[in-house]
Amino acid sequence: MAVISRTAAELSAMLGPWQDGRGPLSSALADGIAELIDANMIPAGTALPAQRELARQLGIARGTVTSAYGLLEQRGRLLTRTGSGSRVRAEPSAPGANLTGRLFSFSDESRRRIDLSSGALPASAVAREVMGQIRFDALHDYLPTNGYFPAGLPALRTAIAERLSRDGVATAPDQIVVTSGAQHATSLVFGTYLTAGDEVVVEDPSYRGALETLRTRGARMRSVPFERHGINLPLLEQALAKRPVLAYLQTGVHNPTGLATDPARRRRLASALAGGRTLAVEDCCSYDLTLEGRPGRTLAGLLPDDRLVSIGSLSKLFWGGIRVGWIRTSRSRVRTLLEARKAVDLSTSVIDQLIAVRLLERADEARRERAAMLSVARSIAEGLLHEHLPRWTWPPVDGGAALWIDTGEDAAALAERAKQAGLLISAGPNFSAHGSHRTHLRLPVARDRTTLDRALATIAGLTTDRRR
Ligand SMILES: Cc1ncc(COP(=O)(O)O)c(C=O)c1O
Repeated sequence: MAVISRTAAELSAMLGPWQDGRGPLSSALADGIAELIDANMIPAGTALPAQRELARQLGIARGTVTSAYGLLEQRGRLLTRTGSGSRVRAEPSAPGANLTGRLFSFSDESRRRIDLSSGALPASAVAREVMGQIRFDALHDYLPTNGYFPAGLPALRTAIAERLSRDGVATAPDQIVVTSGAQHATSLVFGTYLTAGDEVVVEDPSYRGALETLRTRGARMRSVPFERHGINLPLLEQALAKRPVLAYLQTGVHNPTGLATDPARRRRLASALAGGRTLAVEDCCSYDLTLEGRPGRTLAGLLPDDRLVSIGSLSKLFWGGIRVGWIRTSRSRVRTLLEARKAVDLSTSVIDQLIAVRLLERADEARRERAAMLSVARSIAEGLLHEHLPRWTWPPVDGGAALWIDTGEDAAALAERAKQAGLLISAGPNFSAHGSHRTHLRLPVARDRTTLDRALATIAGLTTDRRR
């Protein structure tokens, strides 16, 4: 297995201002490194830089680093072996804890159990119909070309721009970059605008795929609570005063809570962002999944195009198997993103893009279909929850494919017990940059009644709340 390592320069950038003026330097340094371990910014197994190099980089005595590493070892956070340096230890209390996380969701292992760890939906009826009719004649127009379209097929860029314009966000085709899904788009945007140690504001909770990308890139995440009507604005303003490089937000329909930001708060959020230098990155993936089947409102149009990067996908509306997403921003940012993209990925599949053009013609119909399907699924799930777990609570959602449930107990421990019983479910800390929301679970609703009934009956038998 490849060993991840952090250089002294990277660790120093991630630590930021670690000397708080209180207590000995060695314990301040140990606390700073422990925080990075807790936030999973230096995950288990990571090799830390040699003591001499870190001391040189931080401008402190080597003995201070030796004592800091020693303290971390005593606290069980580091393992030091003569000759092979110091590594971050796995949390003794969480063997295989990452198996309930995102990476596990799409593995073969997850297919052998009841998997409620992902909210991904099967193909919509519209997608099935369109794909059943696809003829590849359209492909012939592209065969004489080299097949590489880093910004996307012109026909698809136009179709996406037209759809966004119809949704109320005037957009030109050259403001669009077609990507291989939204996860690719997010990773491309973070990779283009962030370097290790940069500060990023994230909502708490937030989409775990984005949190994972930010962790991998060594970003320092500052969490701001996401509440019933959107992000907590006073705390966001405090966070923006620190001049973070980027803010990752979802105001349309928010994953994992299913809540939308109300219009007044969205406007105030936009003006808070407009006053600073932080680049807003808005993930609009779930904005197609509103209760009414109409597109949700987002920040687009409320901020100058150059201050906002919006990300979208066809995965929710049609199917995750069509790897097509998009980025909408200013033309100059489009050029920067394209240069960055070409270094890792030359183009999205032409076949997928041609299918996407056809699908987008039927976006409105697909939204109504998803809304109807999710409304039935939600009421079945809520009925089963009342039956099996009457003490669990959740806010009424504005959309999405899941319920964000407060179990009133340690949901991470419950998820761990459920895993032993063959049931995968994602607990709140998976959706938090700093492991909060310990009593929460995200329950995807789009499952057949029998599966959900069995899953909730299993959980009811595992809950510690015997008064249920
Ligand atoms: C908020 C959010 N962003 C991004 C993605 C990734 O989407 P894609 O399948 O387009 O990569 C998802 C999928 O669950 C999501 O919920």
